[in-house]
Parts: sequence; C-alpha cells; structure tokens
Amino acid sequence: MIKRIEQLRDEGQAAIDAAAGTAELEEVRVRFLGRKAELPRLLRGVAELPADERAAVGRTANEVRRQLEAAVEAKAGTLAGAELDAQLAADRIDVTLPADPAPQLGRLHLITRTRRELEDVFIGLGFTVVEGPEVERVYYNFDALGVAPTHPSRLLTDTFYVDPIDDIFDPRSLLLRVHTSPMQIRAMESQPPPIYVIVPGRVYRPDNDATHTPQFHQLEGLAIDEQITLADLKGTLLTFAQAIFGPDREVRLRPHFFPFTEPSVEVDVSCFNCADGVSEAVTEDGDERCSLCKGTGWIEILGAGMVDPDVLAHVASGGYDPEKVQGFAFGMGIERIAMLKHGVPDLRLLYDNDIRFLEQFA
Ligand code: DAH
Repeated sequence: MIKRIEQLRDEGQAAIDAAAGTAELEEVRVRFLGRKAELPRLLRGVAELPADERAAVGRTANEVRRQLEAAVEAKAGTLAGAELDAQLAADRIDVTLPADPAPQLGRLHLITRTRRELEDVFIGLGFTVVEGPEVERVYYNFDALGVAPTHPSRLLTDTFYVDPIDDIFDPRSLLLRVHTSPMQIRAMESQPPPIYVIVPGRVYRPDNDATHTPQFHQLEGLAIDEQITLADLKGTLLTFAQAIFGPDREVRLRPHFFPFTEPSVEVDVSCFNCADGVSEAVTEDGDERCSLCKGTGWIEILGAGMVDPDVLAHVASGGYDPEKVQGFAFGMGIERIAMLKHGVPDLRLLYDNDIRFLEQFA
C-alpha cells in the first residue's frame, strides 16, 4: 500500500513537472488530488484498513497529498507568471512611440477662423463673448430696438417669420433674427452695467445673390458704462481695424441712421489694397482706380453708434438708467470681414464647400 502511495507521488510529481500550461496543470491536479482520484479515495478508506497498517498508510498518504498540493501550487505560480510574460510580449504597446499629435486632416472654415480672430481682438479689449437665440421674438428683434412698425424690414419679404405666423406685429411672435442686435437687450436684461459684450452668431434674411446668402454671420458689440463717448467707440474700432487689417489702418465715421443708435455712424477703414484709391497696376481698360475701394481710399466695414436712450429705457429697471449710463454699439458681417481681408470675390464661395477654395486658408 505504501509502495502504491509512493508510486502515486512520483507519477504526480512527474505530471506536475511536465505540465506546460495552467489548464494542463489543473487536469493533473484533478487526476491526482480531485475527489475521485486514487490518493484521496485511499485516504478516505484508511479507517477500513487493518489496525497495524492504518497509522503508517494514513501518515504517508497525507504527507504525499500535502507534497503534491504544494507542488501544484508552486507550479501554478511559475506557469501564471510565464503566461503573463508571454501575453505581455505578444500584446506589446510601445509606449516609447513619439507622442506627436495625429497629422491634421481638416482645418477651420474661413468663417470660423475669422470669427475667432475677431473674438480674440475684442476679448483682448475686455469684452466677453455671449451668444443668443437664432429664433427670436419680434420684441427683441424689432420693438425694443426702436424699429418702427412701418419699417420695411419687418415685412414677410425681408424677414423669415416662424410658422405659425399669427401676427407679425405681435411682440411675442417668432422670427429668425435678422441681426445680432436683439442680444443687446437680452444681455442687458441678464446683468447690470457696466457691460462689455460681443455677440457672434448666425442671422437670416430672405436674400440670395453674389453678395447675400439667406443665412450669414454677424458680430455685435455693446459697451455700456458711465462716461462712455463716441471717442471710445472710435478707439475701439481703430484697435479692431488695425488688428484685423494691419497696423497702418485708419478708421473714419460717417453719419448714418439706425433706429437703435443716436447718433449713428457707418465706419470705414482705410483701403489696404492701394494708396489713396489708386491701384499700382492699371487695369486693361486703363482704369487706375483701386478695385477694392473704387478709388475712394475707404472701405465700409460696419454700422455703429451711441446706444439710443430709448433702447436703454427698456432695461432701465435693471440698472440701465439712461440718465446715468450710456454707451456704444456696433455690428459687422463676419463674411464681409473675411472677404475683404482675403480678397474673396463672391460670398457664395464661402458656402459652396469646394475643397480647392477652402484649402487656401490654412
Ligand atoms: N444691426 C445692424 C444691421 O444688421 C448693424 C448695426 C448697426 C448694429 C449699428 C449695431 C449698430 O449695433 O449700432 O444692419
């Protein structure tokens, strides 16, 4: 009996040594130490042995079982370590690869790029960027800005109203905003003065030709504080013009009319294509006038003015008492700025998505 136990020990040890993987080792364990295996069975039968054999057989069998168990455990440790090593070697990720960013496949659209450039300039001047709803109420888009009910821009031919149109003169009616100016009121409603904000965003008008698309972008500016004058407006716009169009630019203000500013101005920037409106190159038909400024030396870039006290009156309860605070506002077309700056001849190029066009603005 003892001999058989020793034989089992040798066979078991050999099988354990020979096991090539954890799965095979588990088979060996079941074969020699599992519930139905010979050694445990033998141990369970010790009680039935003749009394003089019991002690020796029991001791030897127990000892062999412990030896085999320990051998399985040791082997399991070795095998698991080796298998992990093999897996790691096969599954290699080389963390020493250079961490260069993936090559850039796309690029920002010229409109986005221009918008961000403009935002950077005004953020640098202390303005905050805010955005507003594109579906807007008649109140914010027209009424609060002093646009008279008789103003032609309110007609269905000039403004997209949102279905169902009950009454285009009801201040609560909805439309697609025709400019970013409605955010002047919303911004002032949301915070007391002083306020310095710019509002970039989409606007909509039912036009479609070489210089108009039904959807385009504007950037509005609003500054309300104590002691603000037209000189602050001019200085702000001069900084903007020089940052966008070059350090030698000048700006001039021409009288104009907008319902929500008083006085109102149109702002021109000195032409960056020519000197004094005269082209370097004479065109084929002998015209020496600069094609960009049409010989005037100035290019119109935006509308602006001092915020009309009647506009502030709509938000007077929020701290915008027209007797105490005043300020300026301006609004420009982002597409127009991009086209002027980069010499884009047709607005529609910005929306055609022709890669050959878009790729030029890296
Ligand atoms: N909202 C005007 C437009 O769409 C542009 C404009 C003019 C905005 C004068 C202003 C301003 O804030 O003061 O034509």
